[in-house]
Amino acid sequence: MSRETPFLTQAQAGAIAQAHGTPCYVYDQGRLEAQADAMLAFPAAFGLTVRFAMKACPSAAVLRLLHRKGLHIDASSGWEVRRAIRAGFEPARISLSTQELPADIAELLALGIEVNACSLHQLGRIGAAAPGRAVGLRFNPGRGSGGTGKTNVGGSDSSFGIWHEWSAEAAALAARHRLRVTRIHTHIGSGSDPAVWQAVSESSLALVARFPEVVALNLGGGYKVARMEGEKGTDPQVVGLPVRAAFERFAAEHGRRLRLEIEPGTFLVANAGAVLARVVDVVRTDTRTFVKLDSGMTEILRPSLYGAQHPVALWPAADRGRAPTVVVGHCCESGDLVTCAPGESETLAPRDLPVVAPGDLAVIGGAGAYCAAMSAKNYNSFPEAPEVLLGVDGQVRLIRRRQTLDQMLANESVPGDL
Ligand code: LLP
Repeated sequence: MSRETPFLTQAQAGAIAQAHGTPCYVYDQGRLEAQADAMLAFPAAFGLTVRFAMKACPSAAVLRLLHRKGLHIDASSGWEVRRAIRAGFEPARISLSTQELPADIAELLALGIEVNACSLHQLGRIGAAAPGRAVGLRFNPGRGSGGTGKTNVGGSDSSFGIWHEWSAEAAALAARHRLRVTRIHTHIGSGSDPAVWQAVSESSLALVARFPEVVALNLGGGYKVARMEGEKGTDPQVVGLPVRAAFERFAAEHGRRLRLEIEPGTFLVANAGAVLARVVDVVRTDTRTFVKLDSGMTEILRPSLYGAQHPVALWPAADRGRAPTVVVGHCCESGDLVTCAPGESETLAPRDLPVVAPGDLAVIGGAGAYCAAMSAKNYNSFPEAPEVLLGVDGQVRLIRRRQTLDQMLANESVPGDL
């Protein structure tokens, strides 16, 4: 099967479209489990915890499936913590690293979740809410790397984590609240350069050395995947082996056997998900052919936001040859462009694709991460799309129904005098 058609056969796509309509997210259980296995085999010298960065795809069925594989959770808000608990995760398996510490943090900590303080202010609030407890510190290691500037979260221009030169201040503040610092956390970006990730991972051990009670180092997520033909993904074995060796050296020097934590989102789910859509129109100008889908930024925002590249398969009912084609979404927004240039969300980048007609099916691949979770949902009042899970037994199960108009309007109210 080519990259253009991630895992769905044309027959499966047709059956899903018939049963659930389009647009529809489709996740592949086999791929989700295989990716989880690949991460559970991450080289680790003294124990490993794999946390799913649930922001990538927080649907309950996906959470359940990864829970069953033995994964833990990286939550990025109090809401995600509550959502993971509702999906069946034990609080002890949930770690919170957030830009906005929730107002009910004392209650969440009392449930038994773990937390990484991501700023000195947060550390003070955690100390006030739960003095004496164990806490992690998220540091900005001074260097970052992401697939784009918008996905780089390390270095001087990033607001994520405690600046690495302020470890003494962090230690003093923790001591003032009798907090025990038992974990160090770094995460430098998404779609990171594996070499930078590896270098930062090794240098993060220097931060651990400054905190004698630390028993675990969390190296975040960011493991790049190959969505498009010719792209190169991160091999966990390749980036992990030198890090394992660094943990072993650290143990020999300091007599401390650190547990490794990682928290991938993209790696686990990106290529296990696709958006199944239909062609609704084909329009031409003097220079371009545009194929319009019944999907777009309402289901997949990454091209508009990052100039992200996703494979698009078009399945014509009959062979009519191929042509340079610009694929666009259904929103009244020229930025609703699926085939943009890499890193340039405004630049049209035609692809050589089969000639299609309204009614033909289309599949956007690499859409398991940050698509259902991060879209312009309800823009133009299009309803939230359904999600289905393609089981290892070949069965298709609905895991989220399509939103109805009533659900979309449920929380609105109109003052009596209007
Ligand atoms: N850990 C922390 C603390 C994070 O902030 C993130 C992602 C992850 C782990 C997971 O990173 P991943 O393995 O998925 O790269 N929305 C973007 C990426 C930004 C994600 C922000 N944090 C995207 O569509 O690629």
